[in-house]
Amino acid sequence: MIRLMKRSNKIVIEIGESDNVPLFETIAQNIFNKGYSILPDALPSNLVNMLWNHVQEMPSFKFKKAGVGRNEDHVMNNVVRSDEVCWINDETEVGEAWQHWTGSLQTFLNSRLFLGLFSFESHFSHYGQGDYYKLHQDAFKGEANRILSLIVYLNPDWLPEDGGELVLYTGEHEQEAIKVIPKFGTIVVFLSEEFPHEVLPANRDRFSIAGWFRVNSSNTDRIDPPI
Ligand code: OGA
Ligand code: MN
Repeated sequence: MIRLMKRSNKIVIEIGESDNVPLFETIAQNIFNKGYSILPDALPSNLVNMLWNHVQEMPSFKFKKAGVGRNEDHVMNNVVRSDEVCWINDETEVGEAWQHWTGSLQTFLNSRLFLGLFSFESHFSHYGQGDYYKLHQDAFKGEANRILSLIVYLNPDWLPEDGGELVLYTGEHEQEAIKVIPKFGTIVVFLSEEFPHEVLPANRDRFSIAGWFRVNSSNTDRIDPPI
């Protein structure tokens, strides 16, 4: 169910919570059974369209060369990755809709899988022609607090020759890899510590959102999340 609502003089598109249940259920089952979920054409169409329109209209100066590692966005390392990113907050209507949807997914996964997910952070990524992200992991055992990675793609009409596939290594051997085409509306979710992955060089502009659900690792010296 999709409702148009008026909130503080803004028209807000409210996506019926119940519409998401079959999708969230599939993600939960896939994560439980194999640790990852790859679902083409899965992001609700009004949400993916809003995100795509937003990214089209974003001025390029909003994107900054990506860093490697948490809190190290200033450390540029072109060897590992050459994309540029723009962190998402809920100050725009689109950001708010995205945070709302990811928040519903977080609540659902916590209730189904008892993951204790506590917060979510995400950014738009732009890979220009030739850009890549070499083999890496989003979190390391016992160290990081990123539990679950979520990626969605915003590329209409992506062709095989456009490259830019996400390669997810699902086993001990290199052959056990899944190539994901970054097609409009595809959702990828995986356990952050379990799956090394890379982005092959793109042959045209490639847009995605990468996000991470985290557990609370606040202690007396540090408040989580670190904003
Ligand atoms: C990342 C990442 C994959 C993609 O940003 O950590 O792995 O396909 N992105 O954009
Ligand atoms: Mn990654």
